[in-house]
Amino acid sequence: MKAKLIFVTGGASGLGLELVRAARRNGHRVICTGRRGAQDLPVDFPDIPYLSCDLASEDGAHMAADWALQHSVGQIGCALLNAADGYFRPMTLETPDAITRVLSVNLEANMILAHRLYPALGGGHLALIGSVAHKGAAGMPVYAASKAALDGFGRALAEEWRGRTYVRVLHPGPTATGMAERAGRRPNAADKLFLAPRPMAQAVLDAALATTGRDRQVISYGRVLFSPARWRRKGAA
Ligand SMILES: NC(=O)c1ccc[n+]([C@@H]2O[C@H](COP(=O)([O-])OP(=O)(O)OC[C@H]3O[C@@H](n4cnc5c(N)ncnc54)[C@H](OP(=O)(O)O)[C@@H]3O)[C@@H](O)[C@H]2O)c1
Repeated sequence: MKAKLIFVTGGASGLGLELVRAARRNGHRVICTGRRGAQDLPVDFPDIPYLSCDLASEDGAHMAADWALQHSVGQIGCALLNAADGYFRPMTLETPDAITRVLSVNLEANMILAHRLYPALGGGHLALIGSVAHKGAAGMPVYAASKAALDGFGRALAEEWRGRTYVRVLHPGPTATGMAERAGRRPNAADKLFLAPRPMAQAVLDAALATTGRDRQVISYGRVLFSPARWRRKGAA
């Protein structure tokens, strides 16, 4: 596959950092944004352009778009819109501020980014990272709703942009990035079943860059553990 310029949001940690690593392993050039400051990047963070910006802030998504357009010289092979926020708690314990923040990062910022990056995405790929929670998940109603809305947005965009830009909404299954604990969920026995971030990232990247396949895809156990690409790479290693 020809090397592409890949733009990742939320690339400083979790699945986003693994997406950055996978893209680089696969020979692509990568630029990424994250919420944390550059001084708080992991020690082994790759030497790539990085922008610290809060996508929940008023102009955060515009700042990220300006920066990505500038660093890509107007040609983005693939935008992986991965950053997300969320809380594991019942609706009665939600706060108006947190609801606004989750919707801003998980939905509104992605809409603004898609809108602003459109000119640079001709012939390229846009992947919106959703969640299997988009079908509704007790304990995380706001997060689930944000991902359901992202799913609808992606389906509409895939239709509108068909023939010009490949749009995919990719819904990962539970992945061991620590997001669930940070969101407030207590660890439990089911955590052992969470997928490892590295193969999940490779499966997400493969789906994002494919020119065939459905507009909406669940990337979970079967896809990650039995992906033909994974076994090809294992064999080659
Ligand atoms: N882990 C799972 O089980 C799972 C399952 C299904 C879907 N997903 C989806 O996969 C994606 C990655 O999740 P993850 O597990 O890697 O979660 P994570 O470890 O919590 O990472 C979230 C990322 O989003 C960034 N972020 C959060 N709020 C932000 C803001 N206001 N402005 C800019 N960046 C912000 C974070 O940046 P900093 O680190 O710099 O703060 C971080 O890089 C998300 O879209 C998530 O919904 C995850």
